[in-house]
Amino acid sequence: MPLPSALRQGTGPVRERGAAHAPGRRRPAGRLSLPGGNVSASALVEVSDLVVNFHSRRERRRGSAPNAVDGVSFDLSADETLAIVGESGSGKTTVARCVVGLQAHQEGTVLFDGAPVGPVTRRSPATRRAIQMVFQDPAASLNPRMTVRSIIAETWRTHPSAAPDGLTWDAAIDELLADVGLDPDVATRRATALSGGQCQRVSIARALALRPRLLVCDEAVSALDVSVQSQILRLLAGLRAARGLAILFITHDLGVVRQIADRVAVMHRGRLVETATADDLFEQPGHPYTRKLLDAALDLEGA
Ligand SMILES: Nc1ncnc2c1ncn2[C@@H]1O[C@H](COP(=O)(O)OP(=O)(O)O)[C@@H](O)[C@H]1O
Ligand SMILES: [Mg+2]
Repeated sequence: MPLPSALRQGTGPVRERGAAHAPGRRRPAGRLSLPGGNVSASALVEVSDLVVNFHSRRERRRGSAPNAVDGVSFDLSADETLAIVGESGSGKTTVARCVVGLQAHQEGTVLFDGAPVGPVTRRSPATRRAIQMVFQDPAASLNPRMTVRSIIAETWRTHPSAAPDGLTWDAAIDELLADVGLDPDVATRRATALSGGQCQRVSIARALALRPRLLVCDEAVSALDVSVQSQILRLLAGLRAARGLAILFITHDLGVVRQIADRVAVMHRGRLVETATADDLFEQPGHPYTRKLLDAALDLEGA
């Protein structure tokens, strides 16, 4: 159920739709200046002019080193699901890692709740808790030697402020597992004894244990069968509604975008080429690259 696009924005060639802004205006719609120079009150995450280059300075000087992320800007409001879609190598994961603080950027800013956030090691515990990531490979992101109970309990040892209040840890773990559609007996199992879908539910439960405000999912369903994908996407949509989560969903798969996203940002060679509500994007793709992606997805469906 796509929401109206209230605050899309970008620089350079980004095509902005679903937001009223005067043509040619330098400051895009949605990024409202508030007294004191603050930006849009409802933006939970604001990424501005982000540049990441993995090459050496010398290579960059020679001009043979394209930016992996090249001037990317977007906003995400507190109850929104934004998908970043694009083919492999377009820079999606790098953007996600910058938001989570696992990747440094050379230029630009990442604001969370209006404040700049740097590498994860320099973030306050509260910010580290607030932004959680779910990775692509469900089994590899869970320690095979630990039981599910220990995996979840470990997050509370690292972040005691998120530990359950008024419940035993075991009871809180049972609740979390129920929230992600798992039986309590999963708590005693190790990741190696679980299916891919179950592992991904555990990864989501581990993230939720810290009561995050933003979930960054990087190809979180790409390794799963299509039917399991749909179950996990429905789970995420339900959790988002129940817990008021924002979700940044990275995927190369437009079928997944259609199931989960309110808004979509299309990445191509490090740049955002188009952002639109999911409805608009599928009905009237604006950028030729988006049309190409949609055509390729339709070909796959028809194959
Ligand atoms: N750690 C890294 N070191 C060097 N190059 C990288 C690194 N991570 C990503 N890249 C390069 O940056 C570009 C974008 O990669 P990535 O963000 O992983 O794209 P996507 O997630 O869209 O597939 C690619 O050309 C990739 O090879
Ligand atoms: Mg990736």
